[in-house]
Amino acid sequence: MTALLEIRDLHLSMHSYEGAARVLDGVSLRVNKGEIWGLVGETGCGKSVTGLSVSRLLRTPPAEYTRGEILLDGTDVLTLDERQMRSLRGRRVGMIFQDPTTNLNPAFRIGTQLIDVALAAARHDPAILGLGRGAGRRARVAAARKLAIAMLTEVGIPAAESRLDDYPHQFSGGMRQRVLIAMALIGRPDLLIADEPTTALDVSVQAQILALLKQMVAAHDMGVVLITHNLGVVAQTCTHVAVMYAGTIVEQGPIRDVLGDPAHPYTQALMRAIPTRDVARGALQGLAGSVPNLIHPPRGCRFAPRCALARPSCAQPPAVHERAPGHRVACPVVEEAQHA
Ligand SMILES: Nc1ncnc2c1ncn2[C@@H]1O[C@H](COP(=O)(O)OP(=O)(O)OP(=O)(O)O)[C@@H](O)[C@H]1O
Ligand SMILES: [Mg+2]
Repeated sequence: MTALLEIRDLHLSMHSYEGAARVLDGVSLRVNKGEIWGLVGETGCGKSVTGLSVSRLLRTPPAEYTRGEILLDGTDVLTLDERQMRSLRGRRVGMIFQDPTTNLNPAFRIGTQLIDVALAAARHDPAILGLGRGAGRRARVAAARKLAIAMLTEVGIPAAESRLDDYPHQFSGGMRQRVLIAMALIGRPDLLIADEPTTALDVSVQAQILALLKQMVAAHDMGVVLITHNLGVVAQTCTHVAVMYAGTIVEQGPIRDVLGDPAHPYTQALMRAIPTRDVARGALQGLAGSVPNLIHPPRGCRFAPRCALARPSCAQPPAVHERAPGHRVACPVVEEAQHA
């Protein structure tokens, strides 16, 4: 079966005057409809660049894709030109960005922004507005406006019609996040990439937004990649999780397997960090050292320099082995222990 999204062995370098940082080193991930994948890991591990790559939103240069594929419904987006990409963004892939300035424009009314996104998506798929190809501009704007009201209502904005004329600053943080979800979903994408959509929110609003995301996935039969540094959020929301460390996925699989039976030493360290507080940005409790320099990364396992279990074989790139169906771990030590 063709996956909604399949990232295969993706390698990405970021060029700067200091050299080429190998920020993604063989990332592989498969997302199907109905699945909510949590992408977790410490700051700088490559979560956002992975998400942005799916929509090809990194500038090249400084970014350079050196190996791998990003298949959306079987088409490698790395082979598409900018015009083809524009027809995918918003319609096939909806995004909620981590950087707030790329999300909502403070200078425009919410309604204007939603209607613009709906009209752009409808250029590639007129059915989004429920109109035929020949519909005139006035009819399209009216239909986009109706759709904007319906989407805002669906994400739980009361009196949606009267709020179309409001500016982003007139919404609370939680309400703004709902508007962002409406905007990401107005083009009816199959895949939603949400980068830290709840990090700025207090815990109760965060729970509401996560519940809304789950509800939208069920209602629209989408696949989701939810990027977060918070394993608690993942446990609460996701069906699957991929744990990233320094540009690699060290462990991935169904949520129950990975969180119930974490195998990779790094996943275990992340789990130990949960009960105290959210995983702090930067240093992790109980884990010595810091993330490696990506211009001169360790030759083998990138986690080995911080790993209590490291042994000489870790100087080779770790092979990925399947511990249970779909539960993959990139650690030779764990595998040896399993077969011992
Ligand atoms: N535009 C860019 N130019 C150069 N380097 C970049 C750029 N964007 C990201 N990087 C580098 O790529 C690596 C991965 O960054 P990324 O933003 O994906 O991390 P992240 O996991 O999303 O972290 P956070 O949790 O802080 O959001 C980092 O080393 C970062 O410095
Ligand atoms: Mg990020």
